[in-house]
Amino acid sequence: TTNGSAPLKRVLVTGGLGYIGSHVVVALLSTGQYQPIVIDNGHNAYDEALKRCAEIARDDLGAEAPQPILHRVDLRDAQAVDDVFAKYDSEGGIWAVIHLAALKAVGESGEIPLAYYKVNVGGSMNLLESMEKHNCKNIVFSSSATVYGVPETIPIPETSPVAPESAYGRTKAMVENIIQDLCRAPRKDQDDGLRAVSVRYFNPAGAHPSGKLGEEPRGRPGNLLPLLAQIAVGREKNDLKVFGTDFPTPDGTCVRDYLHIMDLAHGHVLALNALTVPSSQQNIFSNCDPKDGPFRAFNLGKGKGMSVMNMIEAMRKATGFDYKYEIVGRRRGDVPDLTADPTLAEKELGFVAKADLDTMCRDLWNFQTKHPNGYGN
Ligand code: WQD
Repeated sequence: TTNGSAPLKRVLVTGGLGYIGSHVVVALLSTGQYQPIVIDNGHNAYDEALKRCAEIARDDLGAEAPQPILHRVDLRDAQAVDDVFAKYDSEGGIWAVIHLAALKAVGESGEIPLAYYKVNVGGSMNLLESMEKHNCKNIVFSSSATVYGVPETIPIPETSPVAPESAYGRTKAMVENIIQDLCRAPRKDQDDGLRAVSVRYFNPAGAHPSGKLGEEPRGRPGNLLPLLAQIAVGREKNDLKVFGTDFPTPDGTCVRDYLHIMDLAHGHVLALNALTVPSSQQNIFSNCDPKDGPFRAFNLGKGKGMSVMNMIEAMRKATGFDYKYEIVGRRRGDVPDLTADPTLAEKELGFVAKADLDTMCRDLWNFQTKHPNGYGN
């Protein structure tokens, strides 16, 4: 389908039903240039999310808005992944991949590491193999600040050593290495092989300002913000547990760099635009050492650290809810502070996480109160 001028470029979004994935789909749709094709196994998401994306796109662009396409596919099923690529070969193929599908709970990854390696690493290998086979050369990979482990310096620059402290973090670091080795592989010419940007997220928070899209994991949320929202709206009991107050941080609780989900989603579009600039022009790979291939990693964060207590207070302010909490022991894999140095992404991608904490909490609360029972049945 075309938007009246150039034909839409197909972008495969793995995990596109998820919290970050669905907001990335909205960011792609609202440019009017991309046709998002989602593959997701629905393990931690609802199809309803994509209906909301389509609704938002129509609100933004009118009836002509591109509509997302969904294929229910599990990345562990190599044939099913390849069938999706093959389906579009005769129509010009898939132009780029934004790869978000993964298991992503830091604590859980220590309990079921093999599941994390099979999905996050095995699934990525199936995807990368099909990209190679079907000549798809552009990938934005969803990585994570957790690859830094306990960083040497805060705020964390991209040059900080990759030394993950959790199985989850190790799967993300491993896939970055696999992708980088593919980018390094010998190629016929500069533009012929895989080009990649790994975006290392800090902590996404909030929801689309329309209140139509938000974070709806299946079951009790593991992450702090959606849990605080569900407690305030009465979906979860007012029994928050704070995992440790003995960290070397101002108030003893972990510090994280929270950024608005729409800023993060927009960061993916900026990464995609940057990595597809042909090598005949100055681009983000121009200064890469040829032995390293066209691979770049960028932190997507705000550069502002907030503690667990800060977040509880911010959500108390946004919801008017009087949270009760119990202080318990540390959660496996948690590190004291993950705050980004966001200057490289700003300089090279034009990425700035603008929305402030109150906006994140207000948008999150707006979504939660509009859909007290979420996307669920
Ligand atoms: C934040 C803080 C918890 C719940 C997330 C993603 C992960 C990765 C990194 C993407 C921590 C504390 C939480 C609770 C608590 N991002 N907490 N009680 O661990 O930073 O991980 O960002 O790749 O995929 O999940 O975020 O929200 O789980 O925890 O005290 O009930 O809140 O200990 O200090 P985290 P989180």
